[in-house]
Amino acid sequence: MSRRKLEKFAANKLRKNIIEPGKPLFDKIKGNWHKDYFENDHPITVELACGRGEYTIGMARKFSDRNFIGVDIKGDRIWKGSGYAVEEGLAHVAFLRTQIDKLAEFFENGEIDEIWITFPDPRPKDRDEKRRVVHPRFLEIYKKVITTDGWIRLKTDNTGLFEYALEVLESREDVKDLVFTRDVYHSDLRPECHEIRTRYEEKFSAEGHNIKYLKFRFT
Ligand SMILES: C[S@@+](CC[C@H](N)C(=O)[O-])C[C@H]1O[C@@H](n2cnc3c(N)ncnc32)[C@H](O)[C@@H]1O
Repeated sequence: MSRRKLEKFAANKLRKNIIEPGKPLFDKIKGNWHKDYFENDHPITVELACGRGEYTIGMARKFSDRNFIGVDIKGDRIWKGSGYAVEEGLAHVAFLRTQIDKLAEFFENGEIDEIWITFPDPRPKDRDEKRRVVHPRFLEIYKKVITTDGWIRLKTDNTGLFEYALEVLESREDVKDLVFTRDVYHSDLRPECHEIRTRYEEKFSAEGHNIKYLKFRFT
């Protein structure tokens, strides 16, 4: 492992806004985000596959009356977003280092008010279908932790993943209010994305990919 990465991991250990294995809150945060971390009762938005946390930070800058949690398995990526939150005094931001598959170990039923999934790995191979973050096994997890009528939003450049998500969502009876666009920057839905562009979005837009966006709720 590179020295730079080790330095970031060491810094993460000292950062209060990173909840990760080995820290006291990691094992007792479930159901206690408002009380033990944010110390307010504002709604919670979670960004899954947050990488450097562009949505988490971007939305936190705009909305001081909500709380934001970026979730990613890679510590060196969340180090970046966590650093911005520290520099800018964004106390309503946290980062959780864990697998998305384990979300229900960190959130009580209905504890999350909104989920953003930003440019997740597309996992195009058939044998990886279960690892796509819109596979039914993930939807069952989101359904548990999201509040009644909470929105789940997906933004991606990847056509295969987007069409797969639509196929899965349209086949379910517990999904309502599904709205989508295959080109968000030429769509009425554009304002919902707050003009925030992630690192991967910048990269794929530059390659000429249209950015797709959808949102839905569970019945
Ligand atoms: C393509 S990157 C997108 C990062 C960021 N959202 C962006 O748009 O720039 C996908 C991210 O998902 C994370 N990831 C992939 N599978 C994951 C999982 N099962 N649990 C948590 N994070 C995961 C990776 O570590 C990576 O940071």
